[in-house]
Amino acid sequence: MALQRAASVLAAALAFASILITGPVQSVGVCYGMNGDHLPSPAEVVQLYKSNGITAIRLYKPDVQTLRALNGSNIAVLIDVADETVTRLASSVPGAQLWVRFYIQHYPGISFRYISVGNELTGAATQNIVPAIKNLNAALDAAGIKGIKVSTAVRLDVLASSSPPSSGVFKDGYMNQVVALLGTTGAPLLVNVYPYFAYIGDQKDIDLNFALFQPSSTVVRDGGLSYTNIFDAMVDAVHAALRKANVQVPVVVSESGWPSAGGVGASVANAQTYNQNLINHVGKGTPYRPQPLEAYVFAMFNENLKPGAETEKHFGLFNPDKSPVYPIRF
Ligand SMILES: *[C@@H]1O[C@H](CO)[C@@H](O)[C@H](O)[C@H]1NC(C)=O
Repeated sequence: MALQRAASVLAAALAFASILITGPVQSVGVCYGMNGDHLPSPAEVVQLYKSNGITAIRLYKPDVQTLRALNGSNIAVLIDVADETVTRLASSVPGAQLWVRFYIQHYPGISFRYISVGNELTGAATQNIVPAIKNLNAALDAAGIKGIKVSTAVRLDVLASSSPPSSGVFKDGYMNQVVALLGTTGAPLLVNVYPYFAYIGDQKDIDLNFALFQPSSTVVRDGGLSYTNIFDAMVDAVHAALRKANVQVPVVVSESGWPSAGGVGASVANAQTYNQNLINHVGKGTPYRPQPLEAYVFAMFNENLKPGAETEKHFGLFNPDKSPVYPIRF
């Protein structure tokens, strides 16, 4: 009897502790891509975030109308330096200072969390990442702005290997320089993580359920850790690469999503399953790092002007008329 009571007190204490640990830190945002015709006005978009309980947004460029609509809104912001602006900020301290003044200092009512220097930069442009981060950090310092972390958003293929997760290692030298810098500033590495593309690239070997966070017969064992979904395996491959680079840098998932139409494996049911499971899952973290993870769902709207495969136009949670493509709970 006493033992039973002790056990139930312990269970209650553990449940309470897990609420304390996972409640306030976990955060799921949504990326606001704007490559579409007839999207709602930025003011309507911000309203749509609020009415759906979405507490964080990623912007791919500092769009002034959107910044005005977000000013005073309580929505946390990850803002990108547009790819085409990165070179200028890398080569010019005054350029970085102007950028900070126009897009950060003018909006004291916005809670900016991160600045991303570009999105998925490749080739020669990667050489601009470190100098642009340094110039932006100097500009933020000079303006007396604290608490905004400057980083860059990368694709998973910055890794030379990702399977099993513990084999994760960065492919190119520039990534070691980037993460060494992040290690000194406390900024996270921003990583776009797409189980969808892993799945369509290897349907023979990857079980759809394993990609969708559904019960699956696939379990990847890696050292002492067991993986029941591919998202965790991908994120932990990045953790392994950071460990090998000898840095303490957290990971933020700056994009993840699943298309609802337009190609193999793309359906409303699969997109709803993936995104809802992602939202429900990230608070638990990954096997290697079982702490709340911050993630941004890609994307808010179906974007009919996105180039590339047909599926690219169908990653949205909402249609341009603001109707949901499928129900989703935040
Ligand atoms: C943003 O809101 C603040 C008040 O929180 C205000 O002082 C500032 O002028 C606003 N910025 C813009 C550009 O409207």
